[in-house]
Amino acid sequence: MRALELSHPDAHDCDVAIVGAGVIGLSTAWRLREHGLSITIIDPDPGGAASRAAAGMIAPASEVRYQQHALYPLMREAAAAYPDFVARVEAASGHDVGYRRTETLVCASTPADRQELVELREHQIAHGMEVDALTVREARALEPGLSPRLAGAFRAVGDHQIDPRRLVAGLLAALDAPEHREHVRAVRQTAVRLLTESGGGVELADGSRVTAERTVLATGLATDLLADGPESPAAALRPVHGDILRARLPEGAAPLIERTIRGVVNGQSVYLVPRSDGEIVIGATSREDDLTGVSAGGVYRLLRDAQALVPAVCDLELVEVMARARPGTPDDVPLLGRLREGDGAEVPGLILATGGFRHGVLLAPLLSAAAAALVTGDATGMWDTPGADLAGVLRATDPYRFTTTG
Ligand code: GLY
Repeated sequence: MRALELSHPDAHDCDVAIVGAGVIGLSTAWRLREHGLSITIIDPDPGGAASRAAAGMIAPASEVRYQQHALYPLMREAAAAYPDFVARVEAASGHDVGYRRTETLVCASTPADRQELVELREHQIAHGMEVDALTVREARALEPGLSPRLAGAFRAVGDHQIDPRRLVAGLLAALDAPEHREHVRAVRQTAVRLLTESGGGVELADGSRVTAERTVLATGLATDLLADGPESPAAALRPVHGDILRARLPEGAAPLIERTIRGVVNGQSVYLVPRSDGEIVIGATSREDDLTGVSAGGVYRLLRDAQALVPAVCDLELVEVMARARPGTPDDVPLLGRLREGDGAEVPGLILATGGFRHGVLLAPLLSAAAAALVTGDATGMWDTPGADLAGVLRATDPYRFTTTG
């Protein structure tokens, strides 16, 4: 996409400024463009933060953790919206965004890991997720690359995957299509200040301005534009670092696995996500430490545990190792809604859409539809996720639910 150089000190006007070009910001931009609005996307490195690391599991069942009751329906509804969302992005962009509806096998390394997964399955089923128990023999018949030493296996037929890097490329291409190009700008800069005095929009690092009637902050963990203090939604966000590896089979080798393989190995989670081009994404640690770079211990553990599930992992070529921080919230549910002033009054046209944590890619169709509906005020026209209820989504994602006045 073209990077527009703004001529300081002139302002650039648009209907909506989208700050943050990750999967959530770009999906929201695309939906709003489809609605006919002019868009300016502001990000120094589009797609370069958490979206670049994400494995892209569309896995409402195997992402279930205990005590995330508000999240379960969002995950189910977003996964159900994916086929239509992908079909539309692919039609608009001409890109294959790497959506694969292959199932997920969840494996236990030890009897204790198996017991953990047996108990979790009861919880998954109670919350409407489909998970079947398999014998290890059945699992190995499906995926011969699995270790014969596994203690158990489960199957989540509805847990699929997308390649988030391809999705970002597809969304950028859709926004750059000839019929939209004239109405979309991308500015490779950091937004440093909200323009509250002149209608709306943001000031950029070089002093120039993007003025906009409405502004969406899809800024992940970059909360500098939000107010400080315990009453600010920013106070709810915390970085949860993930180390993630990308590996490849040697040229000409047969695929190691066809399905996503997840597992618990001595109580720790690991996953292997095979792309159709032979790449296997191995992830991901969840570190709440201060190390923003790659953790040596994290990489060691991922390779060790991946190999416990799929022994031939040691034959792969390691092509990339990276770490990114996920924007976590206290209840693991995103923060999406209108922002308020200190006195509690809503700031007209200012919307927050962040806090995707482990689920930003999975939730993108739902969160972008909700953000777009808030921007346009058109709940019916912008709400295209059948089976999901916009009011329910906005209740669950209220950015002020952790503050005393919220
Ligand atoms: N959604 C998987 C992860 O965040 O590691």
